[in-house]
Amino acid sequence: MPHADTSYFPPNATKPEIYTQLLSEAQGLLHNQRNWISNLSNVASLLWHAYAALPAPVNWSGFYIRQDKFPNVALPDPHILWLGPFQGRPACQEIRFGRGVCGAAALKRETVVVGDVFAFPGHIACDASSRSEIVVPILVGGETVGILDVDCTVVDGFDEVDRGFLEELAGLLARGCDW
Ligand code: SME
Repeated sequence: MPHADTSYFPPNATKPEIYTQLLSEAQGLLHNQRNWISNLSNVASLLWHAYAALPAPVNWSGFYIRQDKFPNVALPDPHILWLGPFQGRPACQEIRFGRGVCGAAALKRETVVVGDVFAFPGHIACDASSRSEIVVPILVGGETVGILDVDCTVVDGFDEVDRGFLEELAGLLARGCDW
């Protein structure tokens, strides 16, 4: 099957159905490929097309990865996240652990769901149209190696279904890539 075909999600499918297909396609794309840059790039694309099929008003989906995981960084700081593969509009390139929603999830090593970003102190507004956000850490050996971030243009855009499937996806990426 051509790689692009993995991103065709059926119209009128439920959210669990879309996420289940996404997980299965992600597993297939990760087969025999453990490079995190390649794998996260394909998964960012899958997420984008999955949300478009629902349709969900998602305006950004992608990854921030710990600076020391990037190749050829002169003095890597393991407490800084750098922008990784994503879909959507350009976003801030650097987020320190503890800053914003992404940095909070990275530091706490826990998923953070923000129903209204205006009510989250320190939220980093890369795009003024974002109103809610979910950030899931990618944990390897109990440590954050990166985070998965999805933004939505409406308040309360994410629920427990999103959390459950996105945590499963983060687990797949933790196991399926060389970090
Ligand atoms: N809003 C995030 C910054 C990243 S963008 O949403 C793509 C935050 O507060 O960490």
